[in-house]
Amino acid sequence: MLIKDLEFVKFIGRSKVQAQVKALAQQINVDYQSKSPVFLPILNGSFMFAADLMKLIEIPNKISFVKVSSYSGTASTGQLKSLIGLELSLFNQDVIIVEDIVDTGLTLQKIVNELKELGTRSVEVMALLRKQPAREKGIEVKYVGFEIDHEFVLGYGLDYDGQGRNFADIYRMKEPNSEKAEL
Ligand code: IMP
Repeated sequence: MLIKDLEFVKFIGRSKVQAQVKALAQQINVDYQSKSPVFLPILNGSFMFAADLMKLIEIPNKISFVKVSSYSGTASTGQLKSLIGLELSLFNQDVIIVEDIVDTGLTLQKIVNELKELGTRSVEVMALLRKQPAREKGIEVKYVGFEIDHEFVLGYGLDYDGQGRNFADIYRMKEPNSEKAEL
């Protein structure tokens, strides 16, 4: 499949994705059974994952979609990121960040630090996909759908230059001479 200038091949089919989303939801239903967590899906990438996940959550909860904005700090600090769109007080709340993918983990680390400063009771992270760099750096993600290599993926919310978020399956960029199979 060609998206703009890149060739993508099927990587994780929709039934595997859905099975994993169900398993993640069940873990949350157990781990948070006496709690009432606040889910914070990070837009845009996690919209589809969050929608499927939330249909399977059986404990009381709240959900607030947020965005991470990049803005220029002072010349010396360069690019900083900050959470925007938060409409709930997170003081004393059990927060679950819902991410599409964790790559270097830099975005996530900033979000977690920001949330802790708001007086949250607990902050855990759920990511549908985690790439190798985050694993190597030991970025803490309690709930992971799929561990993948350092490869570019698209579909199920994830985009390439704005395109491809709508696909129900997950694709990966085809590298020349790659013989890698579907997950
Ligand atoms: P990090 O700060 O390097 O962990 O980047 C995380 C963000 O980059 C994700 O939330 C995605 O929006 C985006 N991203 C990282 N890898 C991919 C990918 O393979 N496909 C599409 N988006 C990606």
